[in-house]
Amino acid sequence: MPSVLPDGEPVPEDGALPARALEGAGDRPLGFYLHVPYCATRCGYCDFNTYTASELRGAGGVLASRDNYAGQVAEEIRLARKVLGDDPRPVRTVFVGGGTPTLLAAGDLVRMLGAIRDEFGLADDAEVTTEANPESVDPAYLEELRAGGFNRISFGMQSARPHVLRILDRTHTPGRPEACVEEARAAGFDHVNLDLIYGTPGESDDDWRASLDAAIGAGPDHVSAYALIVEEGTQLARRIRRGEVPMTDDDVHADRYLIADEAFEKAGYAWYEVSNWATSEAGRCLHNELYWRGADWWGAGPGAHSHVGGVRWWNVKHPGAYAAALGAGKSPGAGREVLSEEDRRVERILLELRLREGVELALLKPAGLDASRKALADGLLDAEPYAAGRAVLTLRGRLLADAVVRDLVD
Ligand SMILES: C[S@@+](CC[C@H](N)C(=O)[O-])C[C@H]1O[C@@H](n2cnc3c(N)ncnc32)[C@H](O)[C@@H]1O
Ligand code: SF4
Repeated sequence: MPSVLPDGEPVPEDGALPARALEGAGDRPLGFYLHVPYCATRCGYCDFNTYTASELRGAGGVLASRDNYAGQVAEEIRLARKVLGDDPRPVRTVFVGGGTPTLLAAGDLVRMLGAIRDEFGLADDAEVTTEANPESVDPAYLEELRAGGFNRISFGMQSARPHVLRILDRTHTPGRPEACVEEARAAGFDHVNLDLIYGTPGESDDDWRASLDAAIGAGPDHVSAYALIVEEGTQLARRIRRGEVPMTDDDVHADRYLIADEAFEKAGYAWYEVSNWATSEAGRCLHNELYWRGADWWGAGPGAHSHVGGVRWWNVKHPGAYAAALGAGKSPGAGREVLSEEDRRVERILLELRLREGVELALLKPAGLDASRKALADGLLDAEPYAAGRAVLTLRGRLLADAVVRDLVD
């Protein structure tokens, strides 16, 4: 959840949705994203809506305290219940992300999940994930989460090499994320993910191979690998501009992606989205699939985004403003937009083309179809699914996914 919010029309004080958004809701799965906007320290590359204790001192600091946070999120979940009305859907996925959710007591995360259970009910096979920073959990913490209903956990590993972790300002020691996987398995988690970042300044191909080996060796059933994005306004962007650290170029990113895909495939991880690999269908992140397939989700917490039936809205960004809105009995929504049919078509292409199943060619307009024929001829789309009416990226296409998408939406 990058921290810049879009403009949009205002959200009514009671958070009510246009009636149209709820039409046919029973046929769509419903997920919850719960944002935890706190970190012990800020990593120099990170642009997410998160705050350290010192950043929260001053205006709104008391309201924004971590101690009250689980209660505020529970309040927004009760608001969601009112807004969604007699919605009979049990919740299919819950994803607690950040920030650093595991800076809160495990009991707070369990309490937030309990509010969803109380208000909506959880599907029998609900996927319940939290993100976790490796230095912020121990076996007792993980056991408490597991006993409280969490069944999937995602650790921010990023790299196994100390000098890469240092450039990223990560505070865990090499080896700790792998130990976390073991501890999570011992605690009974069904699914475990490791997040990796490639293309960090100063990282070599061999450093990246070492990180991949370490991640694979730990045996998670899911891995995500992201090219480092140097976000404007971050400490890392400033350091690069000042010439203190070098910028990595796109060719390096492409090489690292190829190294990763080969290592993952060899070890039994199949790609199912451009940046995500899993050992089985059951290991896929169902929550992310809800996003990618345009289902309904409610995002609770400061700056969180939601989508229900073609209406997208986002909350006020600052934890103090968020607490104040809920405390006054109002929706924390800051703005919203009602997506047009064309917006939804474009969004489907943007998201579904990145999936292994690809996107229906029937969604493309004539210019996009022409572009897809060219992409096919250039080896960026797979011939077999294409003949059956779907645009599916080849390995080379995955390297150029953003450019292919840009052409196909025309
Ligand atoms: C925002 S973090 C939240 C979870 C947790 N605090 C952590 O750092 O692992 C989720 C993931 O986003 C990825 N991420 C964050 N900023 C990024 C950036 N600028 N470029 C690439 N990946 C990034 C990292 O891999 C990270 O694990
Ligand atoms: S710990 Fe995660 S959320 Fe927090 S600053 Fe670092 S990358 Fe961002």
